[in-house]
Amino acid sequence: MASLTRTLPASWYCSSPLYQLERRSVFFKSWYLLGPLTRFGVVGEQVGYEIAQVALTACRMSEEPRDIKVYDENSGAELKSYITETGLLFSTISDEAPSFDDFFPDLKPLIGTVDFTKLPYRRSIKYEGSFNWKTMVDGYQECLHCQYTHPSFSVYYPPTFYTVYNHKNFSQHVADPNKADDGLFLYFFPNCTLNVYGGGMSSFRVCPTEKPGVTRMEFDYYHLESGDKFEEYFKFVRQVAMEDYELCEKAQENLEKGIYAEGILNPVKETGVAYYQQRVMHLVCAQHETETESESRARDDDGHINTAMTTQLVEPTIS
Ligand SMILES: [Fe+2]
Repeated sequence: MASLTRTLPASWYCSSPLYQLERRSVFFKSWYLLGPLTRFGVVGEQVGYEIAQVALTACRMSEEPRDIKVYDENSGAELKSYITETGLLFSTISDEAPSFDDFFPDLKPLIGTVDFTKLPYRRSIKYEGSFNWKTMVDGYQECLHCQYTHPSFSVYYPPTFYTVYNHKNFSQHVADPNKADDGLFLYFFPNCTLNVYGGGMSSFRVCPTEKPGVTRMEFDYYHLESGDKFEEYFKFVRQVAMEDYELCEKAQENLEKGIYAEGILNPVKETGVAYYQQRVMHLVCAQHETETESESRARDDDGHINTAMTTQLVEPTIS
């Protein structure tokens, strides 16, 4: 039998030191979708974000829609940002991130076919949930749960055709191959999404807090219509989001109970989960190894241990 990928261990969803390792290995080295240019329609407006405890602000500087700068709120330093040809603004939160093209080497051909600026920005909401950031991404990256968790969604986007294509640092979900402009779901590693369905577009960020069991969800909504037509779309997509929210809180409870340790991922239906979890695991393990090496060097040099670097890591077994 071919080898099967195992999930990350439950302990990775409940550990503060592990989250700090994720910050250093994953979050500081990634790019984040802040939104399409239509999110930054007002010149001089400061649009604030907080990703992995880094506060940043995006601001449109002039009448030129692509003249947007992103700053670290604490240091005032400008952060590396990038606007795609089709109007999506991405940013880093640290100088440790690679270039945009190195991070997303094959993103441009895909997003180059969709104009992401045709739908005006309508609304943003955010709230906290009692789950780890990966608990939400796990759910986003597969659709096995869709049929029973999202009965209204599944009527429009039957799981029969649902397919996930994994690329470097992003995944494309296609709900119906015959509807190229609808039912398009993009996951950007590690925690951003862009969702075109139900007649509108939404983008959400799964923002980890300092508590591994608490995550802040941030949503931005875009739609051609305002008024009743927008509210109808909003109600539909909020229903799906709340169904996911409840599922994540229940999954997190189970992860924290200490009974479940790890499992096997479905090799056909959970490739999206396997892809991003393996990415987290490799980055975290590599960071841990690097820090352990420099810790032992520091101990050799000074005769004492730098305790800030000491982290107990439980590595998952891979068959
Ligand atoms: Fe879902």
